[in-house]
Amino acid sequence: MKIIITGSNGQVGRALQHVFGNHALTLLDLPDFDITRPEGVAELAALKPDLLIHTAAMVDVDGCARNPQAAYFVNGFGTQNMALVCQQSGAAMVCISTNEVFDGAATSPYHEYAPTNPVNPYAQSKLAGEQIAARLVKNLYIVRIAWAFAKGGNNFPAKIIRAADKLGALKVVTDEVGNPTYAPDLAAAIKKLAATNHFGTYHLTNQGACSRYDFALEILRQSGRGHIPVQPITSEGFDRASTPPKYAPLANNLGAALGITLRPWPEALADYFREGEASQM
Ligand SMILES: NC(=O)c1ccc[n+]([C@@H]2O[C@H](COP(=O)([O-])OP(=O)(O)OC[C@H]3O[C@@H](n4cnc5c(N)ncnc54)[C@H](OP(=O)(O)O)[C@@H]3O)[C@@H](O)[C@H]2O)c1
Repeated sequence: MKIIITGSNGQVGRALQHVFGNHALTLLDLPDFDITRPEGVAELAALKPDLLIHTAAMVDVDGCARNPQAAYFVNGFGTQNMALVCQQSGAAMVCISTNEVFDGAATSPYHEYAPTNPVNPYAQSKLAGEQIAARLVKNLYIVRIAWAFAKGGNNFPAKIIRAADKLGALKVVTDEVGNPTYAPDLAAAIKKLAATNHFGTYHLTNQGACSRYDFALEILRQSGRGHIPVQPITSEGFDRASTPPKYAPLANNLGAALGITLRPWPEALADYFREGEASQM
């Protein structure tokens, strides 16, 4: 298969390169390829890809809140360009999206058909990307994930460990709940999904929901830093530009119906540490 991966140098992109390594891959990322360049559409369509996996995005949620126009340009128009590649070439598309398309007011995990209601510019721009892809691409998988982490990324586990080593004590919010998503597990699940031709919207995260506080405790425990004190706080005591949804874990019902599930997140976290991440921080 001819496969295009956007955002190929990112956490999810690198994991996808690994699992799809036996296919003919076209790897796209900044600075060589910018998804917001409309000229790129014809160039990529001419490659006649079978599948385009679109991970590239403006993922800095606070940056998106400060500059919503840039967020829409990358996450909306950039996704539109990649969707047009698929429309013009007949390629299937996997479009990676986020749990933040939900408002966080739920009391149980969001299922795949739950109404969206994004509450910050990052999430609004990602939903715009979902919607334009759905209008343009016939063979589309929308794959929503949350709290991505992988070796080498600037992710929550890496930040917690850096802060623990620098400060010796942490304050972490209890009122943001989601699901950690280990990029290698996600990539393996996407490979299975892409082989089904069962197009639609999927929630592919590691199994189990937790708060940022719970996640931090487990990160410290598994990395041998269980002695570091962690003070639970609420988001009111935490100053940031973006407003994350408070309770936005995803339920994987439809992937599970196809036999595609990810293992519980603490097991995935253990693999992350086995890969030597802790020694690199
Ligand atoms: N990270 C999370 O916790 C999380 C949670 C939910 C959903 N997601 C979604 O998952 C996907 C992958 O996230 P990730 O964690 O792998 O992010 P990542 O590590 O930041 O990777 C994203 C890649 O896209 C590139 N990129 C940004 N703008 C681009 C453009 N205009 N043209 C081409 N490439 C561009 C980035 O390059 P630069 O680094 O040079 O900007 C980066 O290499 C994104 O769609 C994101 O919205 C992520």
